[in-house]
Amino acid sequence: MPSREFTAPETRPLRLRDVTVPNRVWMSPMAQYSAGPDGMPTDWHLVHYGARAVGGVGLLMVEATAVGPRHRTTSADLGIWNEEQAAAHRRLTSFIAGRGVVPAIQLLAAGRKASHQVPWEGAGQNGPVSVADGGWETIGPTATPIGDLNAPKEADDADLDEAVEAFAQATRMAHLAGYEAVEIHAAHGYLVHQFLSPLSNHRTDEYGGSLQNRMRFPLRVARAVRAAFPPEKPVFARVTATDWAAGGLTIDDAAIFAKELAAAGIDLLDISSGGAVRTREARTPVRDEVHVEFADTLKKASGLAVAPVGQIGDLARAAELVATGRADAVLMGRPLLRDPYFALRTRPDDQTAWPRQYHRAL
Ligand SMILES: Cc1cc2nc3c(=O)[nH]c(=O)nc-3n(C[C@H](O)[C@H](O)[C@H](O)COP(=O)(O)O)c2cc1C
Repeated sequence: MPSREFTAPETRPLRLRDVTVPNRVWMSPMAQYSAGPDGMPTDWHLVHYGARAVGGVGLLMVEATAVGPRHRTTSADLGIWNEEQAAAHRRLTSFIAGRGVVPAIQLLAAGRKASHQVPWEGAGQNGPVSVADGGWETIGPTATPIGDLNAPKEADDADLDEAVEAFAQATRMAHLAGYEAVEIHAAHGYLVHQFLSPLSNHRTDEYGGSLQNRMRFPLRVARAVRAAFPPEKPVFARVTATDWAAGGLTIDDAAIFAKELAAAGIDLLDISSGGAVRTREARTPVRDEVHVEFADTLKKASGLAVAPVGQIGDLARAAELVATGRADAVLMGRPLLRDPYFALRTRPDDQTAWPRQYHRAL
């Protein structure tokens, strides 16, 4: 049983490159499927993220945002591949940064998990949208579909070059938009993870087979993103620590990948798991702190800062994980959907934490 002796809220800053994050309770990326045409942020994003920025998280990771139109999961995904989008994202970053919160954004290429319905329509994430119905051609390491989604085209050299450049361009646009950190989505069965996992990568060229080969495309992405972002701003990667399936990626593989990410200049690992396949057996176990032990292993292997995510619903426990050095920060997802002020709940009287407009309620 975890001890509950650290009950103080976690308020120590964390410096990553030249960016100082004011505390260690961070908002995890959560797709809203609420973008306007062409991936443009909408009023929903401003109000949704604005409320969480007022709510006192140290860093706010904007949801999985597509690096190009073909890399979206749905037509309602946010995008950040051109200057018009970057200008629209500025509304979000200026409000978030104005609250003293670090604005960050997760960059996504969906690969074979692209071109599906939004969660609240039809079959949702398992409902393919065909090209005839306004969808788009998907790519993957191999032409094997996942679930009922469209079979992807096996990515050729030109597709891989395009994807790497799309990540670099999105990174440049994220900088232009005012984001202070970017995160490569290298987890949950999206394109980067699809290359890493032997369950989705059956290639026989230099991008498939051995772990060394399966890491080739992910590391190209990592180096391209790092090179496209100013050196004073940190780059994170969300990684899958295990596929939870026989024959899949293991924590030992993830440790080797983590070390390579460190060599590529990545600053922090956001630790998650699963997503490569949709079999019953590969379900992520529903238990508290499922990723904390993996964070221990990956931190040791890479020397990088780590931020585990998943069922860490208790701010006292988050503070304890940070105080004992097991996490450099803790990412919170669903608790922040339920309550935008979640991170302030342990500081009910703290005038420095609550906005001055609300002080008369304290
Ligand atoms: C509505 C929703 C949308 C999500 N979208 C993303 C996403 O865009 N990118 C991502 O890496 N994870 C996504 N996730 C996973 C969360 O970031 C988080 O890892 C997960 O919910 C576990 O953390 P929690 O137990 O604190 O909620 C999403 C989760 C939810 C509930």
